[in-house]
Amino acid sequence: MTMHDDVAKILVTEANLQARIVELGAALSADLAPDSRPLFVCILKGAYMFLSDLTRQVSIPHEVDFMATSAYGGGLDSRGVVRLMLDLKANIRGRHVVVVEDIVDRGGTINYLLRLLEERHPASLRVCTLLNKPSRREFNVPLAYVGFDIPNEFVIGYGLDIDEMYRNLPYIGVPTPALVERLLGNPARE
Ligand code: IMP
Ligand code: MG
Repeated sequence: MTMHDDVAKILVTEANLQARIVELGAALSADLAPDSRPLFVCILKGAYMFLSDLTRQVSIPHEVDFMATSAYGGGLDSRGVVRLMLDLKANIRGRHVVVVEDIVDRGGTINYLLRLLEERHPASLRVCTLLNKPSRREFNVPLAYVGFDIPNEFVIGYGLDIDEMYRNLPYIGVPTPALVERLLGNPARE
């Protein structure tokens, strides 16, 4: 029994993830001016693995920085008020900023972050998200770069967690009902 047995199906394989990240890195490298010293902002914790692979595919000099939000509450549904848990070290006034996110679901987290960052007057502000669940969108947020559109399923792996675990899976998968039950109890309970 390994962690892989807790995955009911794989939605995006490791090979497909890495191939798409090469494309995203090339697109970002082409779109950002080589001397513009862009800042890649990783939204913790979910985007840590994506940032790490993505920035290795970006061929222009850049900086990285980190922010953390909390909203999720640990269940399967990303409801609730977004709170800022960790802010940037960098001053982004006049900077070209790329927000690196794991998944845009309802859009509440990105909506909150974009409003917050816009107030600091960056030269440009773009979102690069690995995953997108368009069917769940409640906030109309602009997504400049999207790795994969996925159906409305709760996913784990490649940074995304269930009860803070399974982030280390090298692919994007759907947890088995038994794992969901074991970690979260009956999700219908609310
Ligand atoms: P949003 O505010 O509804 O767009 O939710 C975004 C956040 O909820 C993401 O940054 C994730 O941390 C979390 N989230 C949304 N969907 C999933 C999922 O399928 N698996 C794991 N985390 C998710
Ligand atoms: Mg996230």
